[in-house]
Amino acid sequence: MNVVVPHLRVVPQPGSPSPLRHVIEAQQFTVPLLMDLFDRTRLMERIVARGGTLDYQNRILAALFYQPSTRTRFSFESAMYRLGGRVLSTEHARVFSSEIEGEQVEDSIRVIGNYADVIVIRHPEEGGAQRAAQVSPVPVISAGDGNGGQHPTQALLDLYTIYRERPLNGLTIAFIGELDRARTARSLAYLLAKFDRMKIFFVSPPELQVKPDILEYLERHGVQYELETNFEAVAGEADVIYQTRIRPERLTGIQDPRQYAIDSGILRRMKGNAMILHPLPRTVELDKSVDDDPRALYFRQAINGLYVRMALLTMLLDSCR
Ligand code: CP
Repeated sequence: MNVVVPHLRVVPQPGSPSPLRHVIEAQQFTVPLLMDLFDRTRLMERIVARGGTLDYQNRILAALFYQPSTRTRFSFESAMYRLGGRVLSTEHARVFSSEIEGEQVEDSIRVIGNYADVIVIRHPEEGGAQRAAQVSPVPVISAGDGNGGQHPTQALLDLYTIYRERPLNGLTIAFIGELDRARTARSLAYLLAKFDRMKIFFVSPPELQVKPDILEYLERHGVQYELETNFEAVAGEADVIYQTRIRPERLTGIQDPRQYAIDSGILRRMKGNAMILHPLPRTVELDKSVDDDPRALYFRQAINGLYVRMALLTMLLDSCR
């Protein structure tokens, strides 16, 4: 039976308001803010292990998902329940909300913002979460926007997963897959640029490579990067392999998706203490046979999503009590 442990309080002292009103893009997070979030996340790990808290029992989260989700929606909802709060949810907002009658997201948010204390939204248009934030009376958290927008909370849990393993400076990270539309990888690249001596490889077929806005940001922040097509060539250099989906239908005829997959050859080349991350869901690029490798951390990432989202919710809810 779960036991509520009231002495693990998560409410901060008065006078320490969150600098965040909404969470729309990864660039909003400074290093001190990330460290504050990660300190809270460690506390959330302990709170969950001890049965949750009732500190947020009068608060309501609205989850408005216009695109499918397993991890993000369930972990946000679980996070709110484990904080003692309650949840309003539509997992298929394109059909199960008034959007089907032609309602614009702004009108939906203006209304839902009076029923809830925080809104989590996944929207199919780039900028959809920003549109929501502009009119919302309560904090809005983007759970991913557009094809090639951002997914900031995924990047936070990705970074936390790395941080739990080793210091966040001087790392080499290889992003693999369909990087033009990988909103998780895009958001994580923005966060990595905040740390020192990072090197990033972007490994993708040229037509699916990461978009110039990310590269310009990395250049402005002095981050070394290389664009690659050959996964094998970089597998042995990376401290973190961040695998993303690669859909065979997006490849041109001569390319084989297995070129961008983790297989036994890649595992042999990788450093012994490297980490394999993947935001999931996966397709052909990550075989189940990799799951037993101790370097495979993608299910750990999904668990960390709960803790990081609990921490983020407390930050935002505390600032508007
Ligand atoms: N990583 C991620 O966003 O997964 P879901 O689409 O299942 O939420």
